[in-house]
Amino acid sequence: LDNGLAKTPPMGWMSWERFRCIIDCDKYPDECISERLIIEMADIMVKDGYLAAGYEYVNIDDCWSELERDKDGKIIADKNRFPRGIKFLSDYVHSKGLKFGTYLDYGTKTCAGYPGSLDFLETDAQSLAEWEVDFIKMDGCNVDTEKMVDGYIEFGRLMNATGRPIMYSCSWPAYFEYYRKPTMYPDYEILKKTCNLWRNWKDIEDSYESMLFTSDYFAEHAERVAPHAGPGHWNDPDTLLLGNFGLSYEQSKAQLAIWAVIAAPFLLSNDLRTVTPEIKELLLNREIIAVDQDPLGIQGKQLKKGNGIEVWVRPITPIVGNEYSYAVAFVSRRTDGHGYAFPYSLADLNLNSKNGYIVKDLFNLKRKTFNLLQNETHEERVNPTGANFYKFTPIK
Ligand code: GLA
Repeated sequence: LDNGLAKTPPMGWMSWERFRCIIDCDKYPDECISERLIIEMADIMVKDGYLAAGYEYVNIDDCWSELERDKDGKIIADKNRFPRGIKFLSDYVHSKGLKFGTYLDYGTKTCAGYPGSLDFLETDAQSLAEWEVDFIKMDGCNVDTEKMVDGYIEFGRLMNATGRPIMYSCSWPAYFEYYRKPTMYPDYEILKKTCNLWRNWKDIEDSYESMLFTSDYFAEHAERVAPHAGPGHWNDPDTLLLGNFGLSYEQSKAQLAIWAVIAAPFLLSNDLRTVTPEIKELLLNREIIAVDQDPLGIQGKQLKKGNGIEVWVRPITPIVGNEYSYAVAFVSRRTDGHGYAFPYSLADLNLNSKNGYIVKDLFNLKRKTFNLLQNETHEERVNPTGANFYKFTPIK
């Protein structure tokens, strides 16, 4: 969507994967979807350096509103959990230098049963503008898929008419490609014009298996889906799981590397209060963020797989002569404890620059770079279910 936003994939935090629809604040005071949770996350994003690293959106997902609209048909925040309302929270988030996002659903109800926007598109677009919202995820539960394309276009037009630039995350591809049976392929040319980002596939859950289910989709459908990503319009494989329960340290590296290669939004859905120093270091790794945020905005692909090792490659800057640099991830599904060692050459990666490449280890920034020349082989060793991630820059 050409609204000046999302020139690179959006970065920030989003409540859903970690905090779901926890609404009982008496029983779960630290975790319920509430003003306090959002304020605490916003504070940490600034204090712990996430904002400085580029994570700027703080997004509430489902379960933030009252179950009924008010007498004017307006959607209102849950009075107990958001006692000072959404505008207050938006102001608070803005006062920290962050951007504020929230969630609606194009159907009659949200996925968790809160009021949907179907008959209230104009009212809800107005509310977003009044609250000074910067990011909206428009979900697609409880509505016919046939209605979606026109409806999402209409809501985009209504938001645009408010004059406030709002980053627009659309969910219809996920409903077409995954949730609808039989599957339908959405028109990505329409998506690109209508939305800044779109969920393509199933909700991610807190496991390596779920992460791989999503990365498999992006591997298998890359020819069809990847070319539609670029500045202003991105595929969204769903949130990063790092900092939660389901991924080991090695698996965390794998998700981060794949997500950077496929130019995914870096939206964290974790409890920033409990992220370990090791995981935090991964999330704040500037070189990896730079790959994700590369200004060319070319979505990378899985180049090959075999022996339980996947190779993912993305063209990035700098361009040297007329050759791209590349981010290359080696991702393992192997479980042999010593970490699998294998040789490769530049030709195996389709990297053709005739003078070879300078190779930088992105997970180990203290390690010296090394040169890899055409016709040389290099031995790579990947820890079980982990990933190695490198930047290859052509030698002049
Ligand atoms: C759907 C979406 C999720 C989340 C939930 C909220 O499942 O795909 O990302 O927003 O709804 O209920």
